[in-house]
Amino acid sequence: MTQPTYEQIVEWDHSHLWHPFTQMQEWVGEPPLVVASGDGNYLIDTDGRRYLDGVSSLWCNVHGHRHPKIDAAIRAQLDRVAHTTLLGLASPPSAELAARLAAIAPAGLNRVFYSDAGATAVEVALKLALQYWRLRGETRPRFVALTEGYHGDTLGAMSVGFSVPFHRFYEPLLPVERVPAPYALEREDGLAPADALARALEVMESTLANARGAIAAVVLEPLMQGAAGMWPQPPSYLAEVRALTRRYDTLLICDEVATGFGRTGRMFACDHTDTSPDLLTVGKGLSGGYLPLAATLASDEIFEVFLGPYEDYTAFFHGHTFTGNALACAAALANLDLFTPAMLAALPAKGETLSRALATHVAPLAHVGEIRQRGTMIGIELYQDAVRRIPYEATARTGHRVIRAARERGLIVRPLGDVIILMPPLSITNDESTRLVAGVAEAIAEVTDA
Ligand SMILES: Cc1ncc(COP(=O)(O)O)c(C=O)c1O
Repeated sequence: MTQPTYEQIVEWDHSHLWHPFTQMQEWVGEPPLVVASGDGNYLIDTDGRRYLDGVSSLWCNVHGHRHPKIDAAIRAQLDRVAHTTLLGLASPPSAELAARLAAIAPAGLNRVFYSDAGATAVEVALKLALQYWRLRGETRPRFVALTEGYHGDTLGAMSVGFSVPFHRFYEPLLPVERVPAPYALEREDGLAPADALARALEVMESTLANARGAIAAVVLEPLMQGAAGMWPQPPSYLAEVRALTRRYDTLLICDEVATGFGRTGRMFACDHTDTSPDLLTVGKGLSGGYLPLAATLASDEIFEVFLGPYEDYTAFFHGHTFTGNALACAAALANLDLFTPAMLAALPAKGETLSRALATHVAPLAHVGEIRQRGTMIGIELYQDAVRRIPYEATARTGHRVIRAARERGLIVRPLGDVIILMPPLSITNDESTRLVAGVAEAIAEVTDA
């Protein structure tokens, strides 16, 4: 099959494609990088140039591109069948994957409901929580969520997240109680970490106490609020919030779409404090970052409330056409096989290699205000005046210019405003980690010293 030329691809793209999270006026003014293939931790453009995939193709690739074991698992499944429905039928890979996920998930999460994106996994969790309370004879219409939380772009997921640039046009549709996590209080109110933790827990507690009986669930990204720009939490925050949700008799939903599958140094962020939420969402890395697959894991207690005779209509009437897609589940099974005990044990060292490189190359730069890291999730925040924390004007497009300068150095990274995000595949080597961080440091220096 002849491949289209670069010019043809750009012509189609610029004339017909609408890119996500993209100001298209700006997009069509720049020649795009067209990724034609991948190889391990690298992306390869139409001219054969190789780039280190420093953000795991939007936080999802885990073991590298074209991993022979995942490729083979998908091919083998393709020789059986690509997709069959889970509405009224079962399938081998979806059943096995559900059992495998239940075995590795935080204790008590024994039921797996599949969907196809992080946002849909969150929608499922929210709907399960609402219906759970109704089935128990209570109407609990509200959720508590974190300031600058992000859970995806469908309406329910947007409701429990909020970011002014992302969500302001939809605001009237998004009612929720928003509370700050400790980092938000450090950042906005200048509180010391211990005071911020205590204050955040007080606010959570008073919110739950005041709305007792009306809150369906607390929803949060455990340990690291990724899309906020990598806002870290002390692990004890999660454990304390779990205790509060128990004390005030509401559910806890942990959204591990970004943090799941090794990103924080453990399989799940919840594992750092042995926290078991009532509902847990996963996506992105679930299929090794290969295919659109997400899941909402539920406790037995939630599952059992939905049981009853058909004619009571207490079933969870929710599903998507590609729920439990066989190719995606086969990829996910191969992905899980690659999480060997040795691989998991080596994860903390990967984070430490990145930390050392950040301390050497990035921390000394004049316009770097803060480096936030948990495992292999990293945010480097740039300021016009790093000491006084004065941000750059949006018109300067500083973050964007940095990632373009990094690209010239063979590195693909992506900013969130002026926070440069690094989140390489877990398969990144020590040498590649150093090259990634040193190259990004050079790019930051080039742009911010100009
Ligand atoms: C914590 C979290 N939840 C949900 C989502 C949404 O996932 P998706 O883009 O697959 O809908 C994201 C995406 O970045 C995320 O970081």
